[in-house]
Formats: sequence, structure tokens, C-alpha cells
Amino acid sequence: MVKLFINGYGNIGRRLATAFNLDREINLIGIAKYNADERAKEAVSKGYKVFIPQSIEKDFNNKKLEFSGYIEDAIEQSDIVIDASKEGLGFANKQKFYLPMKKMAIFQGGENREGKYSVADIIHNSRVNYDKVVDKSYVIQGSCNVSGMGRIMQPLIENFGDRIIRYDVTLIRRWADLEDSKDVKDSIEWDKNPHHQDDVKSFIPNANLFVDSYKAPSRMMHLHQMYIRFKDKAPSKNEILDSFENEFGVSILNSAKGTADVRKKALEIGFVHGDTNMVHIHQEVIRSQDDVLKILYSDDQTGMVIPENHLLVQSMVFKKPRRKALEYTNRIFQLNKKKKILEEEFK
Ligand SMILES: NC(=O)c1ccc[n+]([C@@H]2O[C@H](COP(=O)([O-])OP(=O)(O)OC[C@H]3O[C@@H](n4cnc5c(N)ncnc54)[C@H](OP(=O)(O)O)[C@@H]3O)[C@@H](O)[C@H]2O)c1
Repeated sequence: MVKLFINGYGNIGRRLATAFNLDREINLIGIAKYNADERAKEAVSKGYKVFIPQSIEKDFNNKKLEFSGYIEDAIEQSDIVIDASKEGLGFANKQKFYLPMKKMAIFQGGENREGKYSVADIIHNSRVNYDKVVDKSYVIQGSCNVSGMGRIMQPLIENFGDRIIRYDVTLIRRWADLEDSKDVKDSIEWDKNPHHQDDVKSFIPNANLFVDSYKAPSRMMHLHQMYIRFKDKAPSKNEILDSFENEFGVSILNSAKGTADVRKKALEIGFVHGDTNMVHIHQEVIRSQDDVLKILYSDDQTGMVIPENHLLVQSMVFKKPRRKALEYTNRIFQLNKKKKILEEEFK
């Protein structure tokens, strides 16, 4: 059985642990904690083995928190590590552990693909380049926004690519996740240099793409407004809906009024961690006029990348064909069932 360790237990790490713990092809070695806090207690209560840096052993002992060993012991036992550390720490982890210990690793979207602190030369998007990560030892899983954009753009390219001239995307990003303790600042902030444009272009190089990004005072998902300009008349709304009808991880909703409606519904229904794990096209605001099409979709920021990481493991480690990987990931996350439920709730 493949042995996997999750280095980091924050918003993403906790969700990864839930998913991989359900996966019978994986032996979850455990998770890493870097603070002796309530989350460490939670991890133990869920039955995970907790590994820590030696430097905080005293804190764990003082608080009578259980741990199973040091980080390096867990990595040594593993075949692959999913690094879910705080943005920007992946590079140091790679230098300190994964490279010298010759372990495969997956990094999250907050890490760099280029420059001095690059952790990998490829960003994975399961809809676009699933097959290209098969022989890689180090891969970045695209961030939630980047994953969502790939999931929307690739079907458009496959259906209408030769007629598309450019994409203009405005990302409206949540200020913090629901579980974060930090305050939500009463301001709308702009991003001088959104990384999303280059990230998406790394796996869809021919896209004439322009991305702007704003942070809004909300904890409830991201919203993407995408304008697509065509050479001639833009496709009709029905043509667009038909092309997304059977897309994995894309639901088509009709009556949500905002991102909170979708998140609150996911919590009310009892989806694990309150995640839909997908993007939701809001069909009532699709517009097609002359040569321009507008699509508005919300993107489950915390849940979106978890099945993506799972698919990435199917490719890198198990070398499964994409179709089989999608079937298996669907069994773990019940994405098709969730899509049906959401579409019924917001019909
Ligand atoms: N949140 C999202 O919606 C989202 C979506 C997509 C991608 N991402 C990306 O996923 C990554 C993690 O984000 P997050 O939201 O989960 O962050 P987070 O909630 O702040 O969690 C970060 C985790 O990193 C741990 N940590 C601290 N030092 C570490 C080290 N040296 N090595 C490994 N882990 C360390 C922290 O441990 P302690 O808890 O013990 O302090 C914490 O559990 C980032 O790259 C982010 O950009 C986030």
C-alpha cells in the first residue's frame, strides 16, 4: 500500500487528511503539527498519528498532547508527502526533507514554479494536464482559483476554441476562510500582480488571458466573472450549458443569490467540512451578446483543491488512466451526487 504523509494540518491539510483516510489504497502515515494547540488535540481525537518538529516536544509534553514521532521519522516512512504548509514554506521543506530523503512531494498553490524558490516545474490541473504529471517527482497543485479557471476554460476550448480570441477574468476572492481566526478587513483590496494569470498560462499556454484579482470582505467562497470574446457571434446560453452538463466537478445552479447561499446550503446539508469541492456556474446571469459571452461562477476555495490533490496522487503514484482516476475520486468525494443535490436545491 502506498504510504502518504501530510505535512501541515491547516485548512487544506485537515481536509486532505479526511479524504486520504477514507482511501483504502493509501496508508496514511499521519499529519504534521507545528503548534501544540486545539487542532493537535483534534487530530489525535480523529485517530491520526501526529508528528512534530523536535523543537516543540516540550510544549506537547507540557500540554499532555500525544504525538507519534518527529516529522523526519514520518517522511522517512512515506512514499509521498503532500506539503500543505503555510504559503511559501514548501521550498524549505523540499530542501530540508524531500530532496535529501528522495521522497516524492506535492506542493500547494501558494508555492513558486519559477525563480529562486521554485519547488516544481509543473502546475497540475486535472482537467487539462493530468497525464503530464505521471513521471514527475515534484508537482504543484494549482490553487483553488487556478483549478477553477482550468475547469471552465478547457471545456470552452474543446467546444469553441478556434473561435475564441481572448478571456478576461475578474476574481473576487474571499478575505479569509470560515475556520480562520483572522479578522475580515472592511475594504476591497486589489492585487498588483495576480499569480493566477501566469499559473493558468503554464498549462494552457495559448490562451490569450487577462486576470484581475480583488479581495472582498467575505469568508464565503470566490466568485469569478469571465468574459470570453469570440471572432464572430458568441455561442448561445444553451450551447454553453450543454457543454458543461457532464463536466466533473462543475454544477449548474439557477437560484443562488450569492456565494453565502451555496456555502450555507453545503453546511446545512452536512457535506463534509461544508465543502462542495466544485465550481458552480450561475446560469441565470450567463449573457451572450454579439461577440461576447459572460460566465459567472463561484469556486469553493477550501474544498476545490482536495479532489484535485487526490487525482494528482492517482496520476503521479498509481499512474491510473484519467477515466479510472475520476471514478475513484468520485467514490471518495461523492462529487456527482453533490452536484445533483446542489442543482436540485438551486433549480
Ligand atoms: N485555504 C484555502 O482556501 C486554500 C485553497 C487552495 C490552496 N491553498 C494553499 O494551501 C496551502 C495551505 O493553506 P492553508 O489555508 O491550509 O493554510 P493554514 O490554514 O494557514 O495552514 C498552514 C499549516 O502549515 C503548518 N505549518 C507551519 N509551519 C510548517 C512547516 N514548516 N512545514 C509544514 N507545515 C507547516 C501550520 O501548522 P500549525 O497549525 O501547527 O501552526 C498549519 O497547519 C497554501 O499554499 C495555500 O496557498 C489554500
